[in-house]
Amino acid sequence: MKTPASLNFGHAPETIEFWKRLVREALSLSTPTPFYIFSALPIVERISELENAFTAAGFGTKNSKLKIQNWLSCKTQPVAPLLKWWREQNRPIEVVSEFELRAALKEGFAPEHILVNGPAKHHWLPKFDLRELAVNFDSPTELAKLLPRAKKLNWRCGVRINTSEEFDPESPQFPTQFGFTSDESVVALKKLLRAKVKIETVSFHLRSNISSAQIYERAITEVAEICRAAKFSPLNLDIGGGLPVRHVLTRGGKVFDGEFGLRAFAQKLRQAAKQFPGLREVWLENGRFLTTSSGALVVKILDVKERRGLRQLICDGGRTMNALTSLWEQHEILSLPERSGAETLTAVCGPTCMAFDQLARTPLPRSLRAGDHLIWLEAGAYHIPWETRFSHGHAAVLWHDENGLRRARELQTFENFWNQWK
Ligand SMILES: Cc1ncc(COP(=O)(O)O)c(C=O)c1O
Repeated sequence: MKTPASLNFGHAPETIEFWKRLVREALSLSTPTPFYIFSALPIVERISELENAFTAAGFGTKNSKLKIQNWLSCKTQPVAPLLKWWREQNRPIEVVSEFELRAALKEGFAPEHILVNGPAKHHWLPKFDLRELAVNFDSPTELAKLLPRAKKLNWRCGVRINTSEEFDPESPQFPTQFGFTSDESVVALKKLLRAKVKIETVSFHLRSNISSAQIYERAITEVAEICRAAKFSPLNLDIGGGLPVRHVLTRGGKVFDGEFGLRAFAQKLRQAAKQFPGLREVWLENGRFLTTSSGALVVKILDVKERRGLRQLICDGGRTMNALTSLWEQHEILSLPERSGAETLTAVCGPTCMAFDQLARTPLPRSLRAGDHLIWLEAGAYHIPWETRFSHGHAAVLWHDENGLRRARELQTFENFWNQWK
């Protein structure tokens, strides 16, 4: 099956073959649909690309001790085998909730390899007596409530700063709800310095799919001014996530990563870091960039309809249950068996009773039929966190890494679906 001429997702032929091979293997294991397959191998590629760009820009070389640290954004892909695999690479994790912290601990992360972000954590973080955690405070109230614990437990503290580059992407005239304003940040940093706690980090996360490196640069300059005003020299500059996703198009057919070059980004960061004398590490918390291409969703066509010039494939998974991102994104769709020939405008629908449940509306071969499998690529980030149990149970999950392919979660049973009620 070919991508319609109008849409080019830019996948290498080897990538397409990789996913088809994995899905064939999953089907040969009688995996029930719908299911996701997540693989560590595309993550390895992304991480090395990122790290190579930073090395080329002079991070971690003989002349510069400045290092980068990649934190796994747990919220983006809270998948147990991924956490375990990441920990085995001796890499650290970023969490934003009690459940995520518990998951990180359960998968064996040491507290000093866990960074706690997110708003209002004074309501749950006191349940834990964990020493040496990295904690980025989010508000004056949170700081006041948690400061005694930060001191007692020797936390590595940071302050999240809400720069003027951070706004609600859907209504850019409004700021987000995260972090301290510039004035509050200066007060918070001075307070932490006076309290003689371990204050090490200044942090921001702007939003997802940041379109150019200059946006990061401007935010860093604002943060540097705040540090100067507070007479504070951070050891770590945490620039959050936000690197743009690849091989995904907007519903209007545009790429997200058009202007973004990783090498230029790393060089700009290297320059911008000079505004912080004594800086040791730049922290990155990328979710979409690292994990989007590490997953695929597989659904089966159950029924085919045609009306008013539109062919409709009714599948056992779709947007409502498995792929909320399809609301604003288009992803490449493959089929097994491969189908070709004349194409017609086709809606790929999920099984729920909502017109909303439409994974794609795009030209696809007329030869697709009930019983075929469709593979929705780039299902690795923000699919599991946004899955629903709308009329049906959760999909099965397979995990793939250097040790092969295995079932990591079963298709939800009716008992599991219903037994939560008392
Ligand atoms: C604090 C923080 N860090 C990192 C991320 C990951 O962002 P992205 O997936 O755009 O890289 C998020 C996403 O919401 C976030 O809130």
